Amino acid sequence: MCGIVGYVGPKQATPILLGGLRRLEYRGYDSAGVAVVGSRGAQVLRCRGKLAGLEAMVQREMPEGTLGIGHTRWATHGRPSEANAHPHKVGSVSVVHNGIIENYLPLRARLETSGRKFSSETDTEIVAHLIDESLLGGAPSLVEALRVALRQVHGAYALVAISDKHPGEIVAAKNASPLVLGLGKGETFLASDVPAILEHTREVVFLDEGDVVQVTADGATITDVEGKPRQRPARSIEWDAAAAEKGGYPHFMLKEIHEQPRAITDTLRGRLLLEDRDADLEGFEVDVRNLRRVLIIACGTSYHAGLVGKFMIEGTARVPVEVDLASEFRYRDPVVGAGDLVIAISQSGETADTLAAVKEARARGARVLAISNVVDSAIPRSSNGVLYTHAGPEIGVASTKCFTAQLAALSLIAIHLGRRTGKLAPDAAAKLVEELALTPTKMTEALEALGDMKQLAREYRYAKDFLFLGRGTNYPIALEGALKLKEISYIHAEGYAAGEMKHGPIALVDDGVPVVVLAPQGPGYEKVLSNLAEVRARNGEIIGVGTKGDQQLANLCDRVLSIPDAPALLQPFLTVLPLQLMSYAIAVAKGNDVDQPRNLAKSVTVE
Ligand code: F6R
Repeated sequence: MCGIVGYVGPKQATPILLGGLRRLEYRGYDSAGVAVVGSRGAQVLRCRGKLAGLEAMVQREMPEGTLGIGHTRWATHGRPSEANAHPHKVGSVSVVHNGIIENYLPLRARLETSGRKFSSETDTEIVAHLIDESLLGGAPSLVEALRVALRQVHGAYALVAISDKHPGEIVAAKNASPLVLGLGKGETFLASDVPAILEHTREVVFLDEGDVVQVTADGATITDVEGKPRQRPARSIEWDAAAAEKGGYPHFMLKEIHEQPRAITDTLRGRLLLEDRDADLEGFEVDVRNLRRVLIIACGTSYHAGLVGKFMIEGTARVPVEVDLASEFRYRDPVVGAGDLVIAISQSGETADTLAAVKEARARGARVLAISNVVDSAIPRSSNGVLYTHAGPEIGVASTKCFTAQLAALSLIAIHLGRRTGKLAPDAAAKLVEELALTPTKMTEALEALGDMKQLAREYRYAKDFLFLGRGTNYPIALEGALKLKEISYIHAEGYAAGEMKHGPIALVDDGVPVVVLAPQGPGYEKVLSNLAEVRARNGEIIGVGTKGDQQLANLCDRVLSIPDAPALLQPFLTVLPLQLMSYAIAVAKGNDVDQPRNLAKSVTVE
């Protein structure tokens, strides 16, 4: 995730670009920059860190000009630094980019062989070189030079480019990353998201996959990469500015719940190798011959992801996996050392307990692989390697999209290890890789079918206690469902392994306690139905989460929340969705502060 803005019109561009970037800072704040075309070509200002640094630079020296582009970065390729900040200027061409150019390494090698010098570690600089190369090679226009570049790159991008030799014009392209065109009177805007331009215009065009746009102050021409015209309707935006920042959703949490299919796609992109039936851990090597065991350490929701990871890694690699709460691990004089692979999961990358556990494990000789959503944060920096989740900044305190993005990272590790231990046969790997690739689409389908759950929330908002039951891969999801409900609805909730009910917790069941039973079809299904029958016999109110079309389950429950069919290892991506939506809806019905629940903080840097 990064934020992009562009402006061409009669006004000074710099204040408009900075205003837009301020509204997009939620998309990343590792660095910020603008390029504004004045009488002597584009002047580029960039700085590491939050937008405030760039604003201070602009106060000292405001680039003058009525056309420009801006960027706020969430680092993927290349550390957060001034050299890696966008815009990247090569020759006459300046470029900003949101996304990932997957084939940047061979392209960079080819460009270096032809004598081109690079000044950053980013994939974006490749695009600036390709456009510059094409212009110098005689491309008849800036947009044609962009098309030549696009034919060479694979990946996800929203790209915006300008050239000193083509003042008065901005060109842009979209594939998989968002880009919106804003149509004003005698002025035109580009942005990653509507809030960035809403104070200037309400007429917008949501660009679609493969669109290539040529933008002037008088409007925009949309074509495909071959130059064939495309028609896109303009829409008038009715939302106010505050609602627009949340993409039209009333809360960040709901927006983030709906962003999950995109977060999974971005986390898998370039790493899930369909043809090779394999997964790439971006250079992190595991010596599987000497791998004694895997130890996963994390806190809270990330710990629940780790519990699912145990099923995934044991299921594919047949290596024993232990999962530990970081706050317990570090104080226990843990048995850990060479031969152990420690996976430290932390959305923020800053959780004090997880950080201390990482240091403890490394001091005792283990290798540590971090899974984190924040580039260059403390836990990745203290580990031997890192697999970043590409969920984009998570603003709602209750973690949703980072949780499923962590599951995606863990599935990659499971496939990678399974292939290297030889325990995941090529055919089984092919099936798992294919199913994983289908998961974002199934999540979208599930979110659409589940709807807003307002009715359910009205019925259950006065409940004092909730139980969540699941087996196998869905036991951690029962724990996560209970945690989500506690955090934002302030309702007491417990998650249990369904088979454990009869060993004690069943005493809690009466007609005032709703029981959420995770019962998708697959291994353990019949057993869960038996546990469900035990609850029903004690007058428990049952909300089932099951596979679409399961009439047998529907007959046993008061209400069923349906999800698409999936193999057991991947079911948690889907079973967690109704639980997130239900907690959200109940919290809203109770009038709670959903995005900033009481007593909680997004990043827990105390022990
Ligand atoms: C729950 C939640 C917390 C975090 C926990 C660990 O919604 O967000 O339980 O999961 O504080 O945080 P990270 O993953 O940043 O280490």
